Amino acid sequence: MTAAQFPEGFLWGAATAAHQVEGGNVNNDHWEAEHSPHSPFAEPSGDACDSWHRWPEDLDLVAGAGLTAYRFSLEWSRIEPEEGEFSRAALDHYRRVLDGCRDRGLAPVVTLVHFTQPRWLLRDGGWTGQKTGDRLARFAEYALPVLADAEYVCTLNEPNLMAAQPVMGAMAMRGEEIRGLPRPDQGVAEALLGLHGRAMDVLRGNVRAAGMTLVGREHLAEPGGEERMREERAAFEDQFLEVARDDDFLGLQVYTAARFDGGGLVAPAPELQTLAHGMERRPQALGAAVARAAEVLPGLPLLVTENGIATADDDDRIAFTRDALTSLAGAVEGGADVRGYLHWSLLDNFEWMLGYRPTFGLVAVDRRTFARTPKPSLIWLGEVARRNGLA
Ligand code: BGC
Repeated sequence: MTAAQFPEGFLWGAATAAHQVEGGNVNNDHWEAEHSPHSPFAEPSGDACDSWHRWPEDLDLVAGAGLTAYRFSLEWSRIEPEEGEFSRAALDHYRRVLDGCRDRGLAPVVTLVHFTQPRWLLRDGGWTGQKTGDRLARFAEYALPVLADAEYVCTLNEPNLMAAQPVMGAMAMRGEEIRGLPRPDQGVAEALLGLHGRAMDVLRGNVRAAGMTLVGREHLAEPGGEERMREERAAFEDQFLEVARDDDFLGLQVYTAARFDGGGLVAPAPELQTLAHGMERRPQALGAAVARAAEVLPGLPLLVTENGIATADDDDRIAFTRDALTSLAGAVEGGADVRGYLHWSLLDNFEWMLGYRPTFGLVAVDRRTFARTPKPSLIWLGEVARRNGLA
């Protein structure tokens, strides 16, 4: 078998998100939830990785390894700390990060919203609020001086997961077992797709390429589960893909597969290996999810905006990523127009409700000193990038 190779100009990078690495994002909904009396968060985000100050070091690590792209997100609550009150200084910060990418030869991939929202927005309806579309459009407009020079702009991070979150919250309240990502709440899904559209109206023609990112997964049917799988896939994936059809590109973030029988989502069988969150260890889900998106949206450029594994065993991170990339090369060979691969994540960072325990990073971060220590997986991915393929 010949080693997997990728198309010329393919981007190789690492991804982060503001709240997970910056630290001190005291003015958003997550900070508030982290500090609420019955917080479901294992611990607060606190100083995170202090990337708000240490971003030049982060970019040096990415570029130094031989990678060619870096994904980061804008923190809305810093740029618009009160409704209608914008911080020029915060926007300038992100401009410096963007210029820092370009100075190091890194293609910047910038996300407008990666899960967090300002507290003032939460108080006024949050993602489903009546005025949220206007407010998001205004935020996108204000951020154009940064976004205009990004290689790719992602509007919302994973609206299909965001719309499944309220369903998971309700299940948790009822004490039900959560086996994987459930079917999204349809009202929330439609509201988020509407918001994506409002952002696209501002971005189209003003940035190089704009689109959303979605959780992509391999949908598998157990015996008798075909029909149910198709229904669930339509709700979790197809309705979002339809909206992405007119975008400049689609970002896919793939971690695992989802299995269905006649009764719905089934937990992976005990003989299958599982990961943090109880997800099935299935690296080849990457190729499968990308191939399906390419089949539904022929010709649309695709970018893998996240893929990775939470593990303390860095050799396993390399093994997982190698298998995932092999499957991705298969999808490319099958005709998918894939423009790049961004690993989640550059740093061991704040993994939302699970706190700092799961480690997705190519680089370890000392929780006390913030010292960064590259792992062998960073060196390995850099070699893959230099070779533009697997050895
Ligand atoms: C999110 C990241 C998260 C990662 C690993 C993705 O769904 O975009 O913010 O850390 O998965 O769970």
